[in-house]
This record gives sequence, structure tokens and C-alpha cells, in this order.
Amino acid sequence: MGFQIRVLMMLGMSLCLASIVLAKQGTSVFYSRPYLPSACYSYRDQGIMIAGANPTLYDNGKVCGRRYKVRCLGGTNGTPNPCKAGEITVRIVDLCTGCGANEINLSQDAFSRIANIDAGRVRVDYIQV
Ligand SMILES: *[C@@H]1O[C@H](CO)[C@@H](O)[C@H](O)[C@H]1NC(C)=O
Repeated sequence: MGFQIRVLMMLGMSLCLASIVLAKQGTSVFYSRPYLPSACYSYRDQGIMIAGANPTLYDNGKVCGRRYKVRCLGGTNGTPNPCKAGEITVRIVDLCTGCGANEINLSQDAFSRIANIDAGRVRVDYIQV
């Protein structure tokens, strides 16, 4: 294999590892419609793939508009296999005052794409994209 190919492969692998390391683990809850108003955008509609950030992540609104990729990792309360395959990308539009540390409040539309809503709360990881 040529040197350049090997360098590219190493780079690819380290980027992959970095994204695993930097993804934060936490939990997700969800909220249902109507999604307006939101703390970031008031009555300006940002679609349905949206989420509220816990107070730390919200950081006085600095996180507004940032996009996060979220994956379901498992249940929190014994619900068997609540996760669905795949991941979603949501835009932060709201402050979730009731969220705990590393908790994300997904729209029901977003939550239901990665997990069974009957679970109510699931373990996730998330990373800014
Ligand atoms: C999730 O967000 C909705 C809408 O802002 C809010 O009513 C609800 O209390 C939040 N959930 C938690 C656990 O705080």
C-alpha cells in the first residue's frame, strides 16, 4: 500500500475514534406538540427534528441553533429493547429546565425515530455535528 493511502486510512480511523470519544452519554426524554413557542426562537418554526437542552448545555442560549446527532443506547427503567436502529440529527431550539445533567428533551417526532415512546426516557449519546 502506498504511503499516502496509509496516511489517509490512519486519519480516517482517528477521526472515527475521536467522534466516539467526544460523544457524550446521557439520557433523553421527549415532549409533544405543539412545539411552539421555544426559548430560542419564540414562534418561529424550526421544524420537528428539534430538542431542548439542559441548562448546562443551553448555556444562556449559546447552544441555540446548533445541531446534534443523537443515538439511542438502551432503556433506563427496564423497558426491554426500547431503541430503534440509526440516529437522528436535531436542532436545539429550547431550554429544558426540568432536564438533568446530560439530558436532552427531544421532540416526540425525533424521539420516536430512535426509540419506542412508551419507554419515556432512554439512554443516548449525542455529539454536535
Ligand atoms: C421538555 O420540553 C417541554 C417544552 O419546552 C417542557 O414542557 C417539558 O417540561 C420538558 N421536559 C422536561 C423533563 O423538563
